[in-house]
Amino acid sequence: MKDQQLKQPGRLRKAPESFLDGDTINAINKHGVDEQRRSLLRKSLLAATAAMSAPVAGAFAAQGEGDPDILETPPWTKALGYPVAHHPYGMPSKYESSIVRRISPGLAGDNRANVAFTPLQGMFGIITPNGLHFERHHQGWVDVDPARHRLMINGMVDKPKVYTMDDLMRLPSVSRIHFIECGANSAMEWGNTAVPTVQYTHGMLSGNEYTGVLLSTLLEDAGFDEQNAKVLLVEGADGSSMTRTIPIERALDDCMVAYGMNGEMLRPENGYPLRFVAPGLQGVSWVKWLRRIEVGDKPYAAKDEASHYVDLMPDGKLRQYTSIQEAKSVITSPSGGQKLMSQGFYNVTGLAWTGRGTVKRVDVSFDGGKNWFTARLEEPILPKALTRFNIDWVWDGAPAVLQSRVTDSTGYVQPTYTQLRDVRGSRSIYHNNAIQSWEVAKGGEVSNVQIG
Ligand code: MTE
Repeated sequence: MKDQQLKQPGRLRKAPESFLDGDTINAINKHGVDEQRRSLLRKSLLAATAAMSAPVAGAFAAQGEGDPDILETPPWTKALGYPVAHHPYGMPSKYESSIVRRISPGLAGDNRANVAFTPLQGMFGIITPNGLHFERHHQGWVDVDPARHRLMINGMVDKPKVYTMDDLMRLPSVSRIHFIECGANSAMEWGNTAVPTVQYTHGMLSGNEYTGVLLSTLLEDAGFDEQNAKVLLVEGADGSSMTRTIPIERALDDCMVAYGMNGEMLRPENGYPLRFVAPGLQGVSWVKWLRRIEVGDKPYAAKDEASHYVDLMPDGKLRQYTSIQEAKSVITSPSGGQKLMSQGFYNVTGLAWTGRGTVKRVDVSFDGGKNWFTARLEEPILPKALTRFNIDWVWDGAPAVLQSRVTDSTGYVQPTYTQLRDVRGSRSIYHNNAIQSWEVAKGGEVSNVQIG
C-alpha cells in the first residue's frame, strides 16, 4: 500500500458554515488560533442544536443537505491503512499542525534566552502533552547524557551524597499531578499592552504528572540537620548558573526531584534527566538539569532571586522571595483571535489553578463582571494542579465580555486589574494573576481587552 493512497482527497472544501473569511484565517493563524479549534467550536455548536430552538436547528440541518462528506464514501474507508509502527514514536495528525509552541513576536531576540508558549486554546483536560509543554530557558537547553549526570546533596547534612540516575531510580518513587507556571506568565499585560491570544497571555503554564523521589526521602537519606536547616539551594547543570533558594518546610512538604513526566522520561527542553519540582512555586524554582542541592540556614540571594524574579512595588522597593503562584484562571475558548460563527450555544471552557491548595469554585461572567454564574469543575480537582472548568452559554449576537474568577480553598478570590494594581502598581513583571477579559464583538470576533 502506497502512502499516497491515504493522502487527503483533492476535493477538500470549506465547511459551509465556516465562519471565517480568508483574511481573518490568515490573521488568526499568524497568531496561533487554529483550524482544529474552529472546527471544535463548530462541532459543539452542532451538538447543541438538539437543545436549541427549532429554527436554529433547522438552519443547520439544511446546511447538511447535499453534503458530499455524508453522501460519498471517503477514500480512507475504501483503502488499507498505514502499517503498525509506521511512526515508532507516535505523532499528532497532520491536521493538527497548527497546535504548536510559539515564540511571541513581541519577545523577539536571542532564542536561547526566550520563551515558547503552550497553545492553551487548542488543549483539553488538565495534562499538557510533552511536546507542547512551554519552554523557558535562560541560556538554551541541553541534552544531558544520563549516564554522566550526578545529583549531589551537601551542606548541613551528616552524609553528603552523590547519586547517579540509576541510584535515584532505585529509591521509593511517587507520581503527582501539578501545574507549573512561570512567574512571568501574563507579564506583558501589566502595562496594558494586550497581546492577541491566550497562548501569549497565559501560555507559560503547563499541567503534568511528575514521577520521581520526594525531597523528604533524599534529605532523610543524607541525614540533614533538622534543628538548624532552613533552606535548600537547588542548582542546574546548564550554562545559566540557575540557582534558587527553597524554604525547607516546603521542600519537606511536597517537593520532589523528577525524572518522569506524563509517563515517560522528561524531555530535554524540560530538564532531562532530572528537574526540581516545587508544587505551587513559580516556574523559575523548578530548576532543570538538577545537579546539586545544598542544605543551608539562610537564603542564598542568588542572582535569579536577588536581581531577577523580584516584584517592583509602587513605592519603588523590590519585593524578593515571593515565589507562590496565587490563584488564577482563564477562559481558553472562546479566547482572543477566535471568532464565533453565529448566535447560539457554546461550551465556554478554561483552566483554574492555585499555588496554595485546591480550586474551590470558578465563576464566569458574560457581561464584563456585572453578573456571575458558577462554572462546572471537572474531576479530578487536585492540590496545586490545573482544574478544568466548563459552562454553557447561548450567545445572543450582542457584544459581550467573558471573564472567569477563581476562588481557592483558602478563600482567596482572583483580583480584578484595579484591585491588583492598587496593591502592586503597574511596573511589575511577575505574578500577574488578574482576571482576564475577552471581548466578543457583534461580528463574533474575540479580542483581548483590559477592564477594571
Ligand atoms: N532551570 C535551569 N537550569 N535553567 C533555566 O533556564 N528556567 C526556569 C526554570 N528552571 C531554567 C530552569 C524558568 S524561568 C522556568 S519558568 C521554568 O524552568 C520553565 O520550565 P520549562 O522550560 O520546563 O517549561
